[in-house]
Amino acid sequence: MTGHKQTVVVLDFGGQYKELIAQSIRKLGVYSEILPGNATLDEITASRPIGIIMTGGPSSVDEDDALTADPRLFELGIPVLGICYGMQLMCHMLGGEVTRGEQGEYGRVKAELDDNCVLFRGIDTRPMVLMSHHDRVKTLPEGFECFGKTKTCPIAACGNVERKLYALQFHPEVKNTDEGQEILRNFLFDVCGATGDYSIDDYIEQSVSEIRERVGDKRVLLALSGGVDSSVCAALLSRAVPGQLTCIFVDHGFMRKNESDEVEAAFSGRDLHFIRVDAADRFLAKLAGVTDPEQKRKLIGAEFVAVFEEEAKRLGEIHFLAQGTIYSDVVESGVGKSAKIKSHHNVGGLPEEIGFEGIIEPLRGLFKDEVRELGRRLGLPDAFVERQPFPGPGLAIRIIGEVTREKLDILREADYICRTEFDKLKKKPDQYFAVLTNTRSVGVMGDGRTYAYVLALRAVTTTDFMTCDYTRIPHATLARTASRIVNEVRGISRVVFDITGKPPATIEWE
Ligand code: XMP
Repeated sequence: MTGHKQTVVVLDFGGQYKELIAQSIRKLGVYSEILPGNATLDEITASRPIGIIMTGGPSSVDEDDALTADPRLFELGIPVLGICYGMQLMCHMLGGEVTRGEQGEYGRVKAELDDNCVLFRGIDTRPMVLMSHHDRVKTLPEGFECFGKTKTCPIAACGNVERKLYALQFHPEVKNTDEGQEILRNFLFDVCGATGDYSIDDYIEQSVSEIRERVGDKRVLLALSGGVDSSVCAALLSRAVPGQLTCIFVDHGFMRKNESDEVEAAFSGRDLHFIRVDAADRFLAKLAGVTDPEQKRKLIGAEFVAVFEEEAKRLGEIHFLAQGTIYSDVVESGVGKSAKIKSHHNVGGLPEEIGFEGIIEPLRGLFKDEVRELGRRLGLPDAFVERQPFPGPGLAIRIIGEVTREKLDILREADYICRTEFDKLKKKPDQYFAVLTNTRSVGVMGDGRTYAYVLALRAVTTTDFMTCDYTRIPHATLARTASRIVNEVRGISRVVFDITGKPPATIEWE
């Protein structure tokens, strides 16, 4: 970070939530950057960090190839906070004992925290916290005290006050942990001495200068979908390299009702070179007979890139491909050491050789709510910034099993009704849509028997899209939506409502 800001280094041990930790810190007004867990001391101290956070990760400390850190880390006098595996590693490296608990602990559990600990000052000390572990700390290193427990985890928080080393077995960075942000705030401001000198404007300034330096006077092609991410990406790029940007909207035929025309209308009048490519037939042909979700995603990703390459060739000299990939796309696609959940379009689907000089992904480190904030700062209208997310592969991954033109038409109509009805809610869910299952069921309409598809409605409440709860939609709305769908859309005999959170489910069904 230029123009030195106080920095917190997040050491990555392969956990799913590392960027969420970095984001939480940035939101609290402190710049943060992520380094690999085994970074050298020189790398760690290069930014003169005021604090270090060790993330969770999939290893066990006693495995042969367990990720580990430089032990001198704890001698620097810089405050350190270990989270989950980070806690186990810290305690193990400092002479404590880590054991495999008889029982794992996954999900929200009640914690009892000690309000004498600086981390827990001024908060509810009986919060529900997100646990996701099997191993746990059994005995503390010398000089450490226990600061919290849960029913199955006797040491859920600990620390060595004098050395400013603290550790939590639970995840303060996720929304599923009550008081999590406050705990991080206490660590940053009361342990590390943060002053809160960072804001999203610094992010804009830094990205703009990085993009300018990289692009020079060359030309950039952006995959514009009309969604929040690619719209914000377009705004950022047009600020950084105005006049050098061409935006291509690939209509893969998996857009929602009326959406392609809306995107065209919104962007074609703007000050950027907008091109719409109608590729629906190509994409459908590629997906014929394909039922596996990962294969669908990969085929769509590959076809998407192929269309781009063709367009780029037609346009003549274009050097960079820009994409609105955001962090949750990256982490859930299993980049680095994180476990792969699913290949998000634009990440897992990208072939090695893409035929451009390089890829520009200026939002790659950001989460959805940060992207929205960035969009507002860049002057995008609320209608764009507030749009709910829509996955790159579109309705193709909301149709379970083979994608056909007929199923797309059914889903488009049903989804439209679902969104229209849920739009009327006073407190809207963060994302809501319909999924066409490949199960058919018997119904009765008029005096006749029907045998048609089961449609699922999904509505989730989340801010980070990494975890979510299902939204408690009023029954009257559910009833009206279901009745409208079965009556107005041919091909659906039954409507169900998905009541699963993430984890254990994901937001999309595929
Ligand atoms: P999941 O299903 O992984 O979704 O819980 C998390 C969020 O990401 C969106 N999503 C995608 N976005 N390309 C995207 O740009 C994709 O391939 C993709 N898959 C899921 C999803 O709608 C949710 O908001």
